[in-house]
Amino acid sequence: TWTTATFVEEAVSEMRAKVGDKRVLLALSGGVDSSTLAFLLHRAIGTQLTCVFIDQGFMRKLEPERLVKLFHEQFHIPVEYVNARERFLTAIEGVTDPEEKRRVIGHEFIRVFENESKRLGPFDYLAQGTLYPDVIESAGGAIDPQTGERVAVKIKSHHNVGGLPKDLQFKLIEPLRRLFKDEVRRVARALKLPDEIVQRQPFPGPGLAIRIIGEVTPERLDILREADLIVRQEINRHGLYHQLWQSFAVLLPVRSVGVMGDKRTYAYPIVLRFVTSEDGMTADWARVPYEFLELVANRIVNEVPGVNRVVYDVTSKPPGTIEWE
Ligand code: XMP
Repeated sequence: TWTTATFVEEAVSEMRAKVGDKRVLLALSGGVDSSTLAFLLHRAIGTQLTCVFIDQGFMRKLEPERLVKLFHEQFHIPVEYVNARERFLTAIEGVTDPEEKRRVIGHEFIRVFENESKRLGPFDYLAQGTLYPDVIESAGGAIDPQTGERVAVKIKSHHNVGGLPKDLQFKLIEPLRRLFKDEVRRVARALKLPDEIVQRQPFPGPGLAIRIIGEVTPERLDILREADLIVRQEINRHGLYHQLWQSFAVLLPVRSVGVMGDKRTYAYPIVLRFVTSEDGMTADWARVPYEFLELVANRIVNEVPGVNRVVYDVTSKPPGTIEWE
């Protein structure tokens, strides 16, 4: 029977044998898959592993700082932090179409990743948190005719990119490729990853950029980050975080009229999106208490300049999707 202990033991010895004295590059996202991967590889090959975290500027407030701190101070796994915020903002300027946004972000990610792998490399292997469902779905990658090994032509789906450049084809290390998500969580727990990573709600690769409908600007990012932080604080404070598949805020690029004090306002609405789900394929809007909605809405309108209205999304999936873009 499958146990986390035997899995970890076997994965570690397999990776050691495969890597030998070579170097491995890993792109950390902060999710449970890439974090578990980092733990396993660090245990297996120590300093032969290099983790990079590319900050696109689309993460939730304080999350990049938190992630780097956790890895350095608590896990003692070094992470190369790459601040690419300006680059991504420039690249995405004026882009309004959701798929175009993903394409531009994916493309930019590859370029930054390429630079970093040259700067820090050379590397022989790329570690990817591919899971079993990814393997069946995409059968991604290609077989190197010389070695018979799978090589990366595609970085994991969360970056949503088409292909790596020809001169940047690594051999792959994918120790999670036989696992389902709940098994990864069990392994993560066995490796003593903290709950905040093991139980983390899914977060899309393009991040807040696809939670700002239409054009992404620094001003809108700031507004959404503040609203999202309030959502997170209240969700946590009311013990709802683990009951919900996802809980987040969306910013709409329209303005509506309101009144605050004795002043007319003309500002953005924030959408609250709270859903329950088993696997993200289908989802139901969460029946949270009215009092909770009231509290969150009041805080957002009072504390976040630029927002004067909060609405609750009562659409399930299908026909809606979880994200708005
Ligand atoms: P939808 O919005 O399609 O989302 O119902 C289903 C799940 O996938 C996540 N999602 C993404 N994840 N890159 C990702 O890595 C993306 O571009 C992306 N779009 C949606 C979404 O958060 C939900 O968990």
